[in-house]
Amino acid sequence: MLVTAGGTREPLDAVRFLGNRSSGRMGSALAAEARRRGALVTLVASNLSVPAPVGVDVVEAPTAEDVARETLARGDADVVVMAAAVADYRPVHAEEGKRPKDDEPWTVTLEPTRDVLRELGAKRTNGQVLIGFAADRGERGLERAREKLANKRADLIVFNDVGRDDIGFDARDNEVVLVSAHGERRIEKAAKERIASAILDEVTARLEESDGRSGR
Ligand code: CTP
Repeated sequence: MLVTAGGTREPLDAVRFLGNRSSGRMGSALAAEARRRGALVTLVASNLSVPAPVGVDVVEAPTAEDVARETLARGDADVVVMAAAVADYRPVHAEEGKRPKDDEPWTVTLEPTRDVLRELGAKRTNGQVLIGFAADRGERGLERAREKLANKRADLIVFNDVGRDDIGFDARDNEVVLVSAHGERRIEKAAKERIASAILDEVTARLEESDGRSGR
């Protein structure tokens, strides 16, 4: 099982970056629970502010480009969970050294990064379970999560509402809606360890279904 966790940092110069508030707690909790259930787990870690779980193989991936390279190199895993907050855009140029201050505005042009989840969805092998996250707001955000399920050819999208301070980014708790072709299930507010367990129950159900189909 491959899990991505944390938030990427896209360099502006030698000391500054564009980043996000992801702590990596949700992805780390998923990796820890998967390990506890007996999976061999690789954690692609982007700037975690929590310790990586014991017993998982950790690969550092500070930028979106690193996440793309390290994840796609391991894209044949039985289960891939894209829990990291990967930058959608990065600066076209990172300045060498530290940019000195002057009185002019600093204009930065951003270019889109590779959408790793979409690439995995496009080339997935039969039987792989592919899970994405959607950090969005409210009812419209939930609607976009449903669209993401189809567009990115994932088995499950974990929607969490980033319009709230008490859950999601950089919080201990989460409250999510699991969106899949089988329907939707709201997991009420709980510690991220409990949410991880509910997500892995879904993974197990999907793996059992595909084992049943392939007669394994
Ligand atoms: N993701 C990814 N590669 C990126 C950006 C995001 O694989 N360059 C993954 C995230 O890890 C997450 C999912 O895509 O599992 C959803 O990310 P999010 O940023 O919420 O959605 P967007 O990709 O921005 O969706 P949209 O198409 O609406 O822009």
